[in-house]
Amino acid sequence: MEKTEKRTVLHMFDPMPHTSPFDINMAVDAGFEAIFPYDNVKLEQVNGLVQDTIFSRGPAGVKRTGIFIGGRDLGLALNMLEAAKNAMVPPFEVSVLADPSGAFTTAAALVACVERQLKDKHGGELKGAHAVVYGGTGPVGLATGIIASLAGAEVTIVDPFNIDTALEKAKEYNARCGSKLIGTYASSDADKARLIAHADLVFCTAKAGVQVLNSDVLGDAKQLKVAGDVNAVPPLGIEGVKRLHNGDPLIHAINAPGAVGIGALAVGDVKYKLQNALLAYLLTAEKPVFLDFREAFERARGLNLI
Ligand SMILES: NC(=O)c1ccc[n+]([C@@H]2O[C@H](COP(=O)([O-])OP(=O)(O)OC[C@H]3O[C@@H](n4cnc5c(N)ncnc54)[C@H](OP(=O)(O)O)[C@@H]3O)[C@@H](O)[C@H]2O)c1
Repeated sequence: MEKTEKRTVLHMFDPMPHTSPFDINMAVDAGFEAIFPYDNVKLEQVNGLVQDTIFSRGPAGVKRTGIFIGGRDLGLALNMLEAAKNAMVPPFEVSVLADPSGAFTTAAALVACVERQLKDKHGGELKGAHAVVYGGTGPVGLATGIIASLAGAEVTIVDPFNIDTALEKAKEYNARCGSKLIGTYASSDADKARLIAHADLVFCTAKAGVQVLNSDVLGDAKQLKVAGDVNAVPPLGIEGVKRLHNGDPLIHAINAPGAVGIGALAVGDVKYKLQNALLAYLLTAEKPVFLDFREAFERARGLNLI
């Protein structure tokens, strides 16, 4: 009798009360045939779950098995990824992707889109550019700041309410990832304007449905070149930047000629392709791979972003 190929399986470990339906849909679209969410997973349970995953399917089966790590906490997801890697027993190893809150793929897509517009419209590069991340202490904002900083930008992450939160997060992730984030806060339009005045790049990664930068604040931008927003829920994050904008003029930045904007659906399109490609790669990589924001950004840079 002809032997059939084993079905593809994705185990999704999530420290939150439920696994994100967004990520489950993404796993289906990436071609996984059987998908199993595990909720409320604790860091110390990862070792056991991984070893239960790897030993039952034989060498051919592990190649058709992947693990996804979700949640909303970047540090915890990175710890879980590390714990998963350490739990492997070669040759029983499977590939693992961490993308908590979609933050790694969203941030990678956002920074890659901004980098592309910076190059195309201004002949610039991330290295040495002054970047401000509004909403910079949330998952997407932190990942955005880390990726841009590691690419050479001088990045300030902005908390909307609390300087201590911004300083603590910057310190924690700089120590962990080798970035050079600066933390600050901006609760008023005057605070936001003070920061935008010296920004070449703006990343808007605040919570959904909040307008962070209005036309008055944008009027204070003097050297702004590219602004990217990931909020797809009205009101959008940056006044005048529409969801499908992709290098369109930033009409309210009247003192920053040539500044352009990128909207949430333009970023979302790249994020979708990126997450799809990374999930599919779990099954096609020659050797087991352990993927986080680093691989996500490298891939995003290589995608056709037009
Ligand atoms: N386009 C895409 O493909 C895509 C994919 C995924 C996510 N997203 C979007 O990305 C954004 C960030 O996601 P997330 O999960 O990181 O969001 P989040 O955790 O809900 O919020 C991000 C940050 O926004 C801050 N914030 C809250 N109220 C604010 C205000 N009034 N002004 C400025 N900042 C404020 C939060 O501060 P506190 O923690 O103090 O509240 C937090 O630091 C969301 O808009 C989400 O919908 C887009």
